[in-house]
Amino acid sequence: MSTFLVTRTLPEDATEAALRADVLHGLTRTPKTLPPKWFYDAHGSELFEKITELPEYYPTRAEREILLARAAEIASATGARTLVELGSGSSDKTRHLLDALPALHTYVPVDVSESALTQAGQALIAERPSLAVHALIADFTGGLTLPGTPGPRLVAFLGGTIGNLLPAERATFLASVRALLSPGDALLLGTDLVKDESVLVDAYDDAAGVTAAFNKNVLSVVNRELGADFDPDDFAHVALWDAEEEWIEMRLRARSRLTVKIPALDLAVDFAAGEELRTEVSAKFREEGVRGEMAAAGLEMTHWWTDQEGRFALSLSMAR
Ligand code: AVJ
Repeated sequence: MSTFLVTRTLPEDATEAALRADVLHGLTRTPKTLPPKWFYDAHGSELFEKITELPEYYPTRAEREILLARAAEIASATGARTLVELGSGSSDKTRHLLDALPALHTYVPVDVSESALTQAGQALIAERPSLAVHALIADFTGGLTLPGTPGPRLVAFLGGTIGNLLPAERATFLASVRALLSPGDALLLGTDLVKDESVLVDAYDDAAGVTAAFNKNVLSVVNRELGADFDPDDFAHVALWDAEEEWIEMRLRARSRLTVKIPALDLAVDFAAGEELRTEVSAKFREEGVRGEMAAAGLEMTHWWTDQEGRFALSLSMAR
């Protein structure tokens, strides 16, 4: 007998309130910023799916290669009976893991997108009738409560999305993940790695312009949700490597001096010609850095696997 439950921990109107707060805060400070989570409306999610198929964007393929090669090791190292996936989206990559975990009793996909959760959950229980699926509509950066499912638990955070958090946010996030775990539970983390600058920049500035469209989509989201009058054509897509911080930044650069009205906030925002709005940080990692961040959160990194070309890593860390 399979079960499929959906629990909402995010009020229906929380998203709109959070967007308003982020836009007000981010566009009235210098330099201007917007958090990357607002890329992902239906159109932005489609554009991201296209990005994962671009020749320049290697992380998705590299991570899938590692998952395929290491799923059995992950299963034996964790003995997981519950798999919690943060930012599960379509649960595509997770299938390799689900198929490899023989003791798995419950899958807990966590995402802000109810439609993605419902689709993925229904498809999964059709394929795996013995699996219980308990989906959580939640923002995983905002303190989670997990259903009482059998241990050991494995929490997976894939795709390199942890790189979208700033270092201080990462520390808070990892501590909150650790708080969900009991000794013997584990975190499986996907991290993109530091590498040649040109490879990194090309991955965020592809020849077909899909990443540029993805970047500008955040302006369309603000237009639709808050009645703003951004013209995406007024901005140029910028991707650059910060060698000090070891992260990629995406920015939108105003092509001329302009003013944007945001009626829902009763706000007019001035851009100087050439002024840049930072829309994403995507940090790249090294093994020792990840080990250190895990230790600081009370997690012990026990496994570090990379793809053949050494571009991306999956690490497994245990709660002590
Ligand atoms: C899915 C968040 C990891 O940072 O590489 C892709 C998003 N941004 N191209 C990343 C993204 C630009 C992606 N993450």
